[in-house]
Amino acid sequence: MQGAVNSQLSQDRFQINRLVPDRIITSMSDDVRSGLSARVKILPPKYFYDERGSRLFDLICQTPEYYLTRTEAALLSEHAADIIASSRPTAIVEFGSGTADKTELLIDQAGQQRDALHYLPFDVCKEMLVESGQRLNERYPWLQIEAWHGDFTHGLTHFVNSHDRTLYTFLGSSLGNFTPPEAAAFLTDIRAEMTGDDYFLLGVDLVKSSEVLNAAYNDNEGYTAAFNLNLLNVLNRELNATFNTGHFRHHARFNEQASRMEMHLVSCCDHSVDVRDLQLNVSFEADEHLTTEYSHKYTRDGIGNLLESAGFAPSRYYIDDDSRFMLALATCA
Ligand code: AVJ
Repeated sequence: MQGAVNSQLSQDRFQINRLVPDRIITSMSDDVRSGLSARVKILPPKYFYDERGSRLFDLICQTPEYYLTRTEAALLSEHAADIIASSRPTAIVEFGSGTADKTELLIDQAGQQRDALHYLPFDVCKEMLVESGQRLNERYPWLQIEAWHGDFTHGLTHFVNSHDRTLYTFLGSSLGNFTPPEAAAFLTDIRAEMTGDDYFLLGVDLVKSSEVLNAAYNDNEGYTAAFNLNLLNVLNRELNATFNTGHFRHHARFNEQASRMEMHLVSCCDHSVDVRDLQLNVSFEADEHLTTEYSHKYTRDGIGNLLESAGFAPSRYYIDDDSRFMLALATCA
């Protein structure tokens, strides 16, 4: 399998590196044990993204209700020329690259202004890196890909970038999954990697009416519900758990006080689940909520302050006409 995949890649233009974390990464076992033993049960959203979860997320992005991806892509295609003209990158780094569909707009634009470009995508899903690498590799013969596989939220000290004038990107409102203090810490980590001529491009979802937000996380096709419930399949497979997905329903709602979308799995009845590998028995009451994701929504000024506190100087904000989504471009302060 590995050989077959790699033979379609031009090896001299595609490398994959493993990111060594500098802080201790809690294992899935630790996270699940503590999250399911807590009084108010919670699981971290990073475990959504097994292969099926990544595909379901891709389907969510194509639904009419989930405006985030479309709006960000439109902003990128409208402003890519301006972003590239300002930053003149020799390299583009992307945290959480996924399919890299949207980044292609930047790569395309950067390639028109020079005859070589380095692309450094980061992702927790290796299959995604190989698949998107394959596509970009074929499409852009002048592109050098240095992929990084691992969890970029646990420190970037072992990340190597030897290129000057780098455009760092963190798109797709992924920042929303962090709590505000975690977001501040990650922005500080990125800022620490940057030198004088580098730029940072951040894509964030903006606060808006709860009707629009709630619809985006309750699509008619049921992809978001399937994505949410798939977390239980991941635990069944990885930790030998006995979750019955039929015993839970998807619930997503905007929490205005905390300015975040929350996804929960709600237990339909009193029942218990074994997580065999952890020798853990977890009981659920009828209507008990298990939190699976926070997706924080920001204002323009909130992001401005967050960037400034992390040592950035925001230089441009690109916002769509309906004020749904924002791209913020910043340099080092
Ligand atoms: C990938 C974290 C940006 O929060 O909107 C989509 C994930 N969850 N539908 C988001 C998600 C439910 C998404 N992010």
